[in-house]
Amino acid sequence: MNTPTLLQKLRLTPALEARLAASYRVHRLTDEADPAAFLAAHGGEFDGLVTAASSGVDAALLAALPNLKVISSFGVGLDQIDLEATRARGIPVGYTPDVLNDCVADAAFALMLAAARGVAAADRYVRRGDWSGPPSAARFPLGRKVSGARLGILGLGRIGRTVARRAAGFDMEVRYHNRRAVPDVPWAHEPSLIELARWCDFLVVIAAGGAETRHLVDAQVLDALGPQGFIVNVARGSVIDEAALVSALVDKRIAGAGLDVFEHEPQVPAELMALDNVVMLPHVASGTVETRQAMGDRVADNLDAFFRDGRVISQA
Ligand code: DGY
Repeated sequence: MNTPTLLQKLRLTPALEARLAASYRVHRLTDEADPAAFLAAHGGEFDGLVTAASSGVDAALLAALPNLKVISSFGVGLDQIDLEATRARGIPVGYTPDVLNDCVADAAFALMLAAARGVAAADRYVRRGDWSGPPSAARFPLGRKVSGARLGILGLGRIGRTVARRAAGFDMEVRYHNRRAVPDVPWAHEPSLIELARWCDFLVVIAAGGAETRHLVDAQVLDALGPQGFIVNVARGSVIDEAALVSALVDKRIAGAGLDVFEHEPQVPAELMALDNVVMLPHVASGTVETRQAMGDRVADNLDAFFRDGRVISQA
């Protein structure tokens, strides 16, 4: 078989780019001054497309690649990939589940602890010199205890279960909300998201993004979480009504938030910048050397398996 030709939609890690270049003929769309003109002239030459959860694949790009046989995406999220269009064409989509469960769950706990204990604000307090300043200066406010608290999880998928297991180490009681109860898990299913929010001290959002979950966490859910409750989002910004979240935080109708994702990222609501009870990350929950290496390996393994056996390893 001829060496397959891949279209690379965005820049990837150096290790993954090197591995793909060693086995395939790779063309980077980002090198093109006029990507649309390039696709119109050369779209028919590509066997595979490499993309990422953040970048996705829309129907227009698929239409521009008439001989496409496989897609390999870096990441677990599928909300930016037009799966209806790929299925209609019978194009398998490989992605990278499982290998990032640990790091995303770790990030959920990092955000939970940081929000409840004021880690980022305390760091700013020390750097400003307030700690070593005059004794009359305001002392750093007390935080909230995470150990032993009640943890609500919205979305008990692979990552949600990893978060729930970590909670045992913090002696937390766990309940979760999914549309349907998950069989054979030790945590209680709460059929109503509002009731889960009312019950818990910390609500971790780790449901898949997309139209079905858009604004699942709305003003009512936030009000049920209440002035003592914290929310953590390591899923997609779209799952929370961000305007409602900003107003709940500004008005102190919830205690605080730890956010890795935003509705219009990388834009972040200006109101959040001034709030010490909000900790923000630039969508890096899976962002460790080890996990990004494993994700890159799975992207390449999916392509290798497809071109060898006709099947990707992890198919969406
Ligand atoms: C994922 O893998 O979906 C991460 O959120 C990166 O977009």
